[in-house]
Amino acid sequence: MTQHLIARSGYWSTLGHRLNAQHDVHDSSAFVCKAIRLICDNNWRRRNSPLAVVGALSNPRSFASAEAGLSESCAELASRLGLVDAALVRDRCYVGGAWVEAARDGPAARFPVHDPATRDALLTVPDFDAPDALAAIDAAKRSQKAWAQKTAAARATLLRRWHDLILEHREDLAKIMVAEQGKPRKEAEAEVTYAASFVEWFSEEARRTYGEVIPSHDGDSRMFALRQPVGVVAAICPWNFPCAMVTRKAAAAMAAGCCVVVKPSEETPLSALALAALAERAGVPGGVLNVITGADADAVVGALADSKDVRALSFTGSTDVGKSLGARCAKTVKKTSLELGGNAPFVVLADADLDAAIEGALRSKFRNGGQTCVCAQRFIVHASLADRFAEGLADRAERLKIGIGSDPATEVGPMINQDAVEKVERHVTDALAKGARRVTGGKRAYPDGTPTNGTGTFYAPTVLANCDASMAVHREETFGPVAAVFSFETEREAIAMANDSDSGLAGYVYTRDGEAMWRVAEALECGIVGANTGAVSVAAAPFGGVKESGIGREGGRQGIDEYLEVKYLRMNNTAPKKA
Ligand code: SIN
Repeated sequence: MTQHLIARSGYWSTLGHRLNAQHDVHDSSAFVCKAIRLICDNNWRRRNSPLAVVGALSNPRSFASAEAGLSESCAELASRLGLVDAALVRDRCYVGGAWVEAARDGPAARFPVHDPATRDALLTVPDFDAPDALAAIDAAKRSQKAWAQKTAAARATLLRRWHDLILEHREDLAKIMVAEQGKPRKEAEAEVTYAASFVEWFSEEARRTYGEVIPSHDGDSRMFALRQPVGVVAAICPWNFPCAMVTRKAAAAMAAGCCVVVKPSEETPLSALALAALAERAGVPGGVLNVITGADADAVVGALADSKDVRALSFTGSTDVGKSLGARCAKTVKKTSLELGGNAPFVVLADADLDAAIEGALRSKFRNGGQTCVCAQRFIVHASLADRFAEGLADRAERLKIGIGSDPATEVGPMINQDAVEKVERHVTDALAKGARRVTGGKRAYPDGTPTNGTGTFYAPTVLANCDASMAVHREETFGPVAAVFSFETEREAIAMANDSDSGLAGYVYTRDGEAMWRVAEALECGIVGANTGAVSVAAAPFGGVKESGIGREGGRQGIDEYLEVKYLRMNNTAPKKA
């Protein structure tokens, strides 16, 4: 019938030839068939004006997204970002293998995602509420049994395909991330590689969820400890690593045999939706990975935390939210992994290689503009080196290029929002009022010196010397590009200062003395220690904190355990009796 229509219609065949030329499609009638299918799709037509329909069909990039059932706004954003694969821009949630809107209608059912550099709206996405979240949990629950029953090898193969697609679309994913999160393009590309590395790692770990054979206490029994998927998992992800925190949680859970409902931050949902599009393409069955967006985090996350059907919840974010989520999850006694704030000490002993310590400090402090849980916060430097360290770090920090993330030269992008900048300003003002010395920075900055009418969220890399324990920079995580330098006389004093915190995520030590390195590393009350390095994050290592920095580990051999539970099986009358 469609072929017949095409054959009879001069308009369609002209359009077919035009599209053929523009899209480099050899079979124009097949192409027009696709176009007609698209126009006949009520869902897509309802969301796009007649003009946009024609526009989408005459632009290859827009056509790719239109073909994937995407809106005109998705196509526009994809074209603005210069994506090769326009279908990675999604403005609907992915639930049960379908791309869906919030159940309620109207503009209030969507919320905007902004570019943090300009505050321009990029796209709107569904504003899920609690009932929508419950529907996503149901979708995950419906798929749970079949996914858990797949062989580890089958799950591994699907994860591996997802990994390959993520790397294949590294540049597009990085562009989406830069647009919504603001980090420099190079860092965004590195994050996509980092994100893919978790999928690869857990595709391999899927095959290694070994149990145990327990030596029996009597002659008749045989006893085993089996490891089984915990069930539906909720993964609540932060805005600072919009791809890597999704895969660090979701790939581990999926490898273990769990279906997942991912709730990305309302600041950065587009990266998570793009990852879902790639998982769909990789052949991950519907319902195994669900991604839901919502501006009212309390409502959506609350529904996930309260649900009896969600058997594990993994959260990365602020300590305050983590504490209240932990309490909420306790009501249904679900497994809870919390990766919360840090306040990382960076100890530089008197014998340290100063240049190496400065390089490590620069890398640790200014990665993602200081918006990282493992960023060094308190530089605790031997008194003999403290001034030289502060001057050297300031010199390097001043040379960092501040700008919009899409500029290839940019090394420090905007902060995520005004609240974040204001917190930085509060910490700097407090420190200066209490006697700290400003070595560099200490003020807002603009890309290339262009004022942004007060909407910009750029803050200059800052170094403060002479800091002490009375200051907010000692007690609280700044989560911004501010290096606070403290000084000490003895190793014991340095350790006491480092541990004088309720947090305990990452810690760092620089020294040339092997024994001192072990002493300090073992004494630091942290879940992660970098010795003579400012970079600690890697898929193969367990990431997580002690004290109020969290519970559980992500990545490493340990990461999959968060999504498995142990079942003890005792069998009698099945084997020869032992004496
Ligand atoms: C985080 O800041 O939560 C994650 C940082 C990392 O994985 O390096």
